[in-house]
Amino acid sequence: MNIEQVSKSGIPRHVAVIMDGNGRWAQKHGSERILGHRQGVNSVRSIVEGAGELGIEYLTLYAFSTENWDRPKEEVSALMVLLIDAIVQEIDNLNEKNVRMLVIGDLCCFPKEVENKLREAIQTTSKNTGLNLILGLSYSGRWDILEAVRKISLEVKSGQIEVSDVNEQFFVDHLSTSGIPDPELLIRTSGEFRISNFLLWQIAYSEFYFSNILWPDFRKENLFEAIVDFQNRERRFGKTSEQIRN
Ligand code: IPE
Ligand code: IPE
Ligand code: MG
Repeated sequence: MNIEQVSKSGIPRHVAVIMDGNGRWAQKHGSERILGHRQGVNSVRSIVEGAGELGIEYLTLYAFSTENWDRPKEEVSALMVLLIDAIVQEIDNLNEKNVRMLVIGDLCCFPKEVENKLREAIQTTSKNTGLNLILGLSYSGRWDILEAVRKISLEVKSGQIEVSDVNEQFFVDHLSTSGIPDPELLIRTSGEFRISNFLLWQIAYSEFYFSNILWPDFRKENLFEAIVDFQNRERRFGKTSEQIRN
């Protein structure tokens, strides 16, 4: 699918992606799992470009979950090295494309060198005004919600706020995605039909799109396809179809 087939009206502001299938891609090609992860960087480059072309404002990529720390330690360390390499390699390109990089997740769990590189990339791109590229790193939806609860509890305990101040907007302002609209569209690749502890609160009304393509084979044309599919849906938010059409 090419970009002309995507309608200019009805572009989602925020698209979130569970990038899955790197290991199976590697297996299919008779190579080590890490090669699949490395190939996955090309897919990231392609959809960041595609998202920019479409005028999407926020693209959130699930790159490493809280649970991924439990993978074999060789794979985890190889992923850390890849993360540094990818940032170093892509940072100029991101700046050129006016992309602002953000991270959601528990950065403190990362090796110092990775954490520093991430903070540096966030800083270097902080003034950019194009696509907001949000990386989910050491992220999980439950972690996000628990962190918000902890922060709010401290504010109640210190007397800064009353329990009755805790409404939906207040809670949202304490999530890691504070200030970012909820994703209208969530994509998962590799033919798995689950959320795997990704944005739990934020996807309350997201449209889901599942693709059988393994992440290292996913390109911006596949993103365009997902957007067109999304554009053909009716989002009712609990209302009736008649209410939506009128
Ligand atoms: C997604 O690919 C990348 C990460 C979770 C880091 P996987 O590594 O999960 O690939 P599969 O699911 O084993 O094929
Ligand atoms: C989800 O993929 C996490 C990321 C894409 C970063 P996983 O491959 O870890 O998910 P499960 O284990 O299959 O649910
Ligand atoms: Mg997987």
